Amino acid sequence: MLRGHRRAARLTLEQLAEVSGVSARTLSDMERGRSKGPQHRTVTALADALALEGDARQQFVELARDGRLRDHWRRPAGLCELPRLVDDFTGRAAELAWMSELVYAESAPGVGVVGLITGSGGMGKTTLAIRAAHVLRPNFPGGVFFLDLYGMSPSPATAADALRLLLRALGVADEQIPEDVVGRASVYRSLLRDRQVLVVLDNAGSEEQVRPLLPGDGASQVLITARRLLAGLEGVRRLGLESLSLAEGTQLLAGILGQRAAADQGSALNQLAGLCERMPLASRNRVLDVVRAARRLRPTGLSAAGRGAGP
Ligand SMILES: Nc1ncnc2c1ncn2[C@@H]1O[C@H](COP(=O)(O)OP(=O)(O)OP(=O)(O)O)[C@@H](O)[C@H]1O
Ligand SMILES: [Mg+2]
Repeated sequence: MLRGHRRAARLTLEQLAEVSGVSARTLSDMERGRSKGPQHRTVTALADALALEGDARQQFVELARDGRLRDHWRRPAGLCELPRLVDDFTGRAAELAWMSELVYAESAPGVGVVGLITGSGGMGKTTLAIRAAHVLRPNFPGGVFFLDLYGMSPSPATAADALRLLLRALGVADEQIPEDVVGRASVYRSLLRDRQVLVVLDNAGSEEQVRPLLPGDGASQVLITARRLLAGLEGVRRLGLESLSLAEGTQLLAGILGQRAAADQGSALNQLAGLCERMPLASRNRVLDVVRAARRLRPTGLSAAGRGAGP
């Protein structure tokens, strides 16, 4: 409640301390719910400094009297939710280890940790980022947020739009979201500093698009996926995603084919994995092609491979 009013007034803790004459430490305690029943004088000074009037002022004074000025933030449902996992996720052990290391990484003072996964289309960047975010979720008590930036589409999300969505997902009311990108980015960074969240920015298209979405200092982290290298982004930890190993590619195909693969002698799947260049998307599509071709052949009874093959 106090923090919300302070942010709406665009004041830092220190600025509010100066205007109200209440020490920054006391304010910080109040914001975190550590101060029980502050003096009436303190509360009035704060309400004055925040220019609260009418009902808002009365509610503020009552909650302060009961020591309940702490923000009880609840995440609005359905905004920036992490997509579901694919159930046949295969391989990528080294890459998942890289992500875990990222969480425990020390960053330079004043710079939050940012990971960037790059690779060509269909290589599995989004799938990997989602998997990692699910695995690492317990490390982010403030929540995990996922946003598609449509960087490769003709109309990518603007930084301003992305920030508005993220702020809403972080619980900021529409009327408290600043109009301009700079204001939005500043509120966003202060929320990320106070909470421990992971933000996954999928399909980033350019440096300009993501720069305002990066964290300042604090324990929050951002994970970006992009087809482009985004070479101009400084201070990010990079992972260039490459093809699956032959064993992983074969395992993925076997998983997709399920029982149908049981009759396979192994070598055919190996060859198919090679043909797909061990790329996950190509593997899925190639399997679909094979299954469709087998279906077309089935009525004429021409192919033994087609027998029993269905989607
Ligand atoms: N490790 C994996 N295990 C199983 N399936 C995977 C894996 N990685 C990717 N896939 C599958 O491959 C397809 C493409 O993956 P994904 O969408 O993650 O690629 P991408 O690199 O994000 O592509 P784009 O650049 O187009 O966004 C999806 O169908 C996904 O389910
Ligand atoms: Mg993707």
